[in-house]
Amino acid sequence: MTEPSEARHSDGRNEEWAREAADVSTPAAVIAEPAGRETIFDVDNVSVYYSDKRAVRDVRIKLARNEITALIGPSGCGKSTFIRCLNRMNDLIPTARVTGAIGYHGQDLYASDVDPVQVRKRIGMVFQKPNPFPKSIYDNIAFGPRVMGVKGDMDEIVETALRRGALWDEVKDRLKTNAFGMSGGQQQRLCIARSLATSPDVLLMDEPCSALDPISTGRIEDLMMELKEDYSIVIVTHNMQQAARVSDMTAFFTVELDGDTGHRTGAVVEYDQTDKIFQNPSDKRTEDYVTGKVG
Ligand SMILES: Nc1ncnc2c1ncn2[C@@H]1O[C@H](COP(=O)(O)OP(=O)(O)O)[C@@H](O)[C@H]1O
Ligand SMILES: [Mg+2]
Repeated sequence: MTEPSEARHSDGRNEEWAREAADVSTPAAVIAEPAGRETIFDVDNVSVYYSDKRAVRDVRIKLARNEITALIGPSGCGKSTFIRCLNRMNDLIPTARVTGAIGYHGQDLYASDVDPVQVRKRIGMVFQKPNPFPKSIYDNIAFGPRVMGVKGDMDEIVETALRRGALWDEVKDRLKTNAFGMSGGQQQRLCIARSLATSPDVLLMDEPCSALDPISTGRIEDLMMELKEDYSIVIVTHNMQQAARVSDMTAFFTVELDGDTGHRTGAVVEYDQTDKIFQNPSDKRTEDYVTGKVG
């Protein structure tokens, strides 16, 4: 077996190599540089273990600023595990261990002097199930800025965040009512607005629409398109149409046998422009997944 060289890695059209990679389950990440765009995350050979079991291996991708990057792939392939690396959420899981390196704006995200709490303010996260606090709409938004000791007009901060979350017009007359009285889609936009209130520059979204109806989903997608002007967004989605609609770049993960241990482990098969992934993927496994043959 030949070791895939850098050059062969970046030539996604090398079908022979792709077949070979599929057969022997080599780390087959195809690295596409976000050419001409600023890199926000430089993920270098990241693996994540839970205790001694590797859940995702050898991820090497660069994510571009002010773009939407979609992470797709079958259940259990490590999408959530991977996205949690980007704001150090895995630190909160006692058995989790991250190896490799992640550069964020050129700085080592895992350096010993980096405070993970500060990281999570700059790199916000929205989850599958909306998780507002059992408080008023207003207090949900004001919570982060208050904890951070932000000075300034709190009413204005709340209004700005709710406007950015495309929610202001719907809730401006009931800011003091409990957030649990909102619809699921509104609650999810509230959670997005709550993340925005701490002035992040990245939003991580782990299947943010899977609990929502199509109309609410459309609203969130529209909002994402607006937000990418000012933020960088990484979204995990199992909805292929959603990835194709909203994202600029797509990483396809799959689960394969880890050659070192024989355990099932997630890995990136292919990472490229979203159009390429959906219309002309380089790897047969990507094609089978995006055309619905497997998954
Ligand atoms: N907290 C955890 N402890 C142990 N194993 C976990 C934990 N979270 C996820 N895993 C395992 O890691 C693998 C990847 O899971 P996950 O990242 O949730 O995949 P995905 O989001 O793609 O469905 C799975 O085998 C899952 O069982
Ligand atoms: Mg998941």
